[in-house]
Amino acid sequence: MSLQLGDTVPDFTQESTEGTIQFHQWLGNGWGVLFSHPKNFTPVCTTELGAVAKLKPEFEKRNVKVIGLSVDPLKDHHTWSKDIEETQGAKLNFPLLADADKKVSNLYGMIHPNASDTMTVRSVFIIGPDKKLKLSITYPASTGRNFDEILRVIDSLQLTAQYKVATPVNWQHGQDCIIVPAVTDAEADKMFPKGYKKLKPYLRVTPQPNR
Ligand code: BEZ
Repeated sequence: MSLQLGDTVPDFTQESTEGTIQFHQWLGNGWGVLFSHPKNFTPVCTTELGAVAKLKPEFEKRNVKVIGLSVDPLKDHHTWSKDIEETQGAKLNFPLLADADKKVSNLYGMIHPNASDTMTVRSVFIIGPDKKLKLSITYPASTGRNFDEILRVIDSLQLTAQYKVATPVNWQHGQDCIIVPAVTDAEADKMFPKGYKKLKPYLRVTPQPNR
């Protein structure tokens, strides 16, 4: 069965561009993003890895470690990383797993045989400090991801882990949040000192609590 939200993510040991990674130990006590891309020396993947390298400070600000994967050998990763730097203007600054034996890809269900039985799809896994899966998204090989969206989801996950709120459609950091239905009005009065608007008994809107 595929990995589901709330599952503890599988641990593994695999080679990477930054040495051998023992995954749970490497994650430590922070958040993690593990993402696969189909193949080295391919155009969309080249743009994605450059974009993630440029966003590294944004991930660090949120205490998130990022790690990529493809089913290619380590020596190819090193050669390709020069192309990434040359064409995208960003040096690979996070580890890229060399999963030529498909150990991690199979463990995480990153190969979808009816799409391709040799390449991984574009999987994204967001992992919490408890090593549990908080989000997974799958994109096809032909569509490059929007990593700003991944950061947006991390902002929501980190906020909702701390406060009894959820985030509405298209929410961005700093915007109003929704008080979760399990909280009574009496509790909300104490929990949300900035107040809230009650549009319906189940739809109560409050300013982002930690701003
Ligand atoms: C790409 O990264 O450009 C790509 C990889 C595999 C299939 C199609 C596109």
